[in-house]
Amino acid sequence: MDVYEAIAARRSIRRYKPDPVGEEQVTRVLDAARLAPSWKNLQCWRFIVVRSETGKTGILSGFDDSNPGKKAITAAPVMIVLCVDPQASGKMGDKEYYLVDAGIAMENLMLAARAEGLGTCWLGEFNEAPVKESLGIPDNWRIVGMTPLGYPDQDPKPRPRKTMEEIVFAERWPD
Ligand SMILES: Cc1cc2nc3c(=O)[nH]c(=O)nc-3n(C[C@H](O)[C@H](O)[C@H](O)COP(=O)(O)O)c2cc1C
Repeated sequence: MDVYEAIAARRSIRRYKPDPVGEEQVTRVLDAARLAPSWKNLQCWRFIVVRSETGKTGILSGFDDSNPGKKAITAAPVMIVLCVDPQASGKMGDKEYYLVDAGIAMENLMLAARAEGLGTCWLGEFNEAPVKESLGIPDNWRIVGMTPLGYPDQDPKPRPRKTMEEIVFAERWPD
């Protein structure tokens, strides 16, 4: 699967089969994240791979039932938690690039997962403190996001996107 196919075929997957995901596949998608570009190549990220029920219970403690992705935490065989040290990335004024670094790494991971036939769903709406506590993450680190990883048990239609005309301008901002 080439990169365009992976980009077009990726969906947020919230229902998973219980089938296990091999260690080699987990390593390959993490390697795709590892190769992401980052501010001054500082690679401010760390990834926690959670497979255990205990680990998942800790993660669940940060989620409200209103989050449509919550059930995926239990259903998927693997959870990957993306932690970042904001001090280990850069700032330009009020633009904090640790969020950018983390976003690129996560997208690399999600596209690689799609190429492996695996589903992911960025989960960002959660209460960080209990999750950090349960996973023993130091105070100065942030959890920017996490994703389930597993075989999809759904085939969602593409979500709508803005048109090219709405988002792309020639030469200058339109009048
Ligand atoms: C930063 C970020 C945070 C997100 N947080 C959640 C979340 O907490 N729960 C959830 O179910 N989906 C979450 N999503 C998934 C988006 O809802 C999804 O990407 C969007 O609706 C487009 O659908 P698609 O990924 O299938 O193209 C998040 C996505 C991003 C990029």
